Amino acid sequence: MICSSSPKFVLPSGGGRGLRVPSLPDREIWSAPPEEEEGEEEEGEEKISVMASSYDSDGSLRGPSSSYPPSKKLTTSNYLRHVESMAKVPSGAGSIPHLNAVILGESLASEENDLIFPNVEFSGQALVSSPQKYLEMYKRSIEDPAGFWSDIASEFYWKEKWSKEVYYQNLDVREGPVKIEWFKGGVTNICYNCLDRNVEAGLGEKIALYWEGNEPEFDGKLTYNNLLHKVCQLANYLKDVGVKKGDAVVVYLPMLMELPMTMLACARIGAVHSVVFAGFSAESLAQRIVDCKPKVVITCNAVKRGPKVINLKEIVDAALVDSAKEGISVDTCLTYENPTAMKRENTTWKEGRDIWWQDVVPRYPTNCDVEWADAEDPLFLLYTSGSTGKPKGVLHTTGGYMVYTATTFKYAFDYKPSDVYWCTADCGWITGHSYVSYGPLLNGATVIIFEGAPNYPDSGRCWDIVDKYKVSIFYTAPTLVRSLMRDGDGYVSKYSRKSLRVLGSVGEPINPSAWRWFFNVVGDSRCPISDTWWQTETGGFMISPLPGAWPQKPGSATFPFFGVQPVIVDEKGQEIEGECSGYLCVKSSWPGAFRTLYGDHERYETTYFKPFPGYYFSGDGCSRDKDGYHWLTGRVDDVINVSGHRIGTAEVESALVSHPHCAEAAVVGVEHEVKGQGIYAFVTLVEGVDYSEELRRNLILTVRKQIGAFAAPDNIHWAPGLPKTRSGKIMRRILRKIASRQLDELGDTSTLADPSVVDQLIALAGV
Ligand code: WTA
Repeated sequence: MICSSSPKFVLPSGGGRGLRVPSLPDREIWSAPPEEEEGEEEEGEEKISVMASSYDSDGSLRGPSSSYPPSKKLTTSNYLRHVESMAKVPSGAGSIPHLNAVILGESLASEENDLIFPNVEFSGQALVSSPQKYLEMYKRSIEDPAGFWSDIASEFYWKEKWSKEVYYQNLDVREGPVKIEWFKGGVTNICYNCLDRNVEAGLGEKIALYWEGNEPEFDGKLTYNNLLHKVCQLANYLKDVGVKKGDAVVVYLPMLMELPMTMLACARIGAVHSVVFAGFSAESLAQRIVDCKPKVVITCNAVKRGPKVINLKEIVDAALVDSAKEGISVDTCLTYENPTAMKRENTTWKEGRDIWWQDVVPRYPTNCDVEWADAEDPLFLLYTSGSTGKPKGVLHTTGGYMVYTATTFKYAFDYKPSDVYWCTADCGWITGHSYVSYGPLLNGATVIIFEGAPNYPDSGRCWDIVDKYKVSIFYTAPTLVRSLMRDGDGYVSKYSRKSLRVLGSVGEPINPSAWRWFFNVVGDSRCPISDTWWQTETGGFMISPLPGAWPQKPGSATFPFFGVQPVIVDEKGQEIEGECSGYLCVKSSWPGAFRTLYGDHERYETTYFKPFPGYYFSGDGCSRDKDGYHWLTGRVDDVINVSGHRIGTAEVESALVSHPHCAEAAVVGVEHEVKGQGIYAFVTLVEGVDYSEELRRNLILTVRKQIGAFAAPDNIHWAPGLPKTRSGKIMRRILRKIASRQLDELGDTSTLADPSVVDQLIALAGV
């Protein structure tokens, strides 16, 4: 991929800086403080690859996006411009000029006629059966958002209806504080809508959750009635130990049925759950506990993933010691005994604080009044990585999130009541919140919760599960698709998979060869793939195919969901029309949008709304082809996407420098065959310390310990010095090129304070 460079425009990509665009002095807004004062900005840094040149249909190289015609100022009458082309069938993909979405060195331009039409049978039964039907609904959602979303919201239970003003929004920092509200004044409860409402509608005996354990012989199930009763018992217990509306509850559980159960119990009593992925380390858990000060922590003693037992309780114990040192002590640690992983007797225990779930929760009544909530009352907090070392507490509220997750789930997967749905994501991430728990349960769906690893006991496990439960909708991440693809078709073809109807992908761009394998081999060329682009911040799908409606292009997330107005802007914040590449923003709010960063509204505005005033800035790059299809090109900030997990480079750097032998570290992302991106760390040691294999291992261990195993660097590159400009800024462009061994593309190194550093680094590349 050839990257253009624009010396004026800088998106810094190194440790600890907010997004700054120094080339825009005319815009007052840029005087706002960056996220971290001490952050460096990179002089002479290249423009990130989203602005990369691309090829015209005749194969000739085209210039960067700045050469595109300047955009017109948009009026509300031309908002449909990016989807209008769908009213007619798009031209073939042979001429798609976009290479940016393509990873692993594939070239879309070589794919002739790569346009996959939904089969007639599927379209015939689909909720949205044609581009025209989509356009009709999309048009209404944009022209009359209040009416569109009110009609949908009315299908839920509201104790009191929302006020006349369905939504309020200010996304423009120049007009005052950013504020988004949907259905304010409406009184509801999301747990009630997931459970009681479905039970009342006659779904009491329908299976809500199937649980498949790590070991194939362990499984379980709960009907909507069972789940409601268990949620009520836990809710009663939580009330009994003093959890009240608005209190935070930290949840550190693996994929047991108790995880969604806990989320629902919190929601039932108005407590704000903060689920921490049970792969995060004690330090990371402690950091989150200190930030949100929970009344109770809920965990389990251990989990088995594949052949490995992970002692979760020890991690929680260590985190609670750490958080107590910071002045936050937690009185109650409710611990579920996961007997298939560890017996009680072997669990570390602190009398007075720790209590076994099984000893107390089942004693409580199976009914529990709900705590009614305003639509804008907080529902949950979920921490996510940003460009500084401190994770961001993304806050979602109740009513809009409810309506949005339910609706996106229904349409993007063409949900039917007879479906059996399996999303492989963990509830520790947003996908598990919106599309394992809330979205499907709000629709009365049957959901599979899988505790184990997809390649245990062998790489056919997923398809074994698909056949066992007759899964009809299967939603996963490209990293899993690639890793199973590598293991060969034999593991797939061994199973029938004939129950499958719709496939889904999330977390990173899915490269066309993985898309095709997923489509042809897993889905037997009959299941559409919903490649859903969205984020922790957006709450639900933003750009996604509606199966049955679209011809698909492998690797493209296609078109916006109802009510979403994606725009691509150039470095000046100008909307670019038609075929283009740029920064993906959204104008106008949608019900599922996050409302703030917990305790830091200023960071919310600085990170998401100041870079391009008037818009929500996603942090992603995007191309749009001449047919209006969207092609996500990855993060343009300091976030690496490893196996679909967001990790801030600054977080990894600060973990590395906490090692006493590490003087300085600079982390970049590199292409990785399975994970999408891998973590590549340049490390400068303190004077007098020698490189060694042991030190390399220790540095990796330090990151595992501070963040979690999923953030462990794939490479440590010894660096006697880092390439810095004369003003001391690290030039990450050069580091990225060295990391990916594109040594002939290093570009101009003459602005470096010491250009010989580059040769030293190259010499050490294999060490
Ligand atoms: C990336 C996960 C391309 C993107 C739901 C985004 C994707 C980040 C896709 C959010 C997709 C997610 N195609 N890229 N279908 N889905 N991403 O907050 O870079 O964990 O900004 O939410 O993942 O990650 P997060």
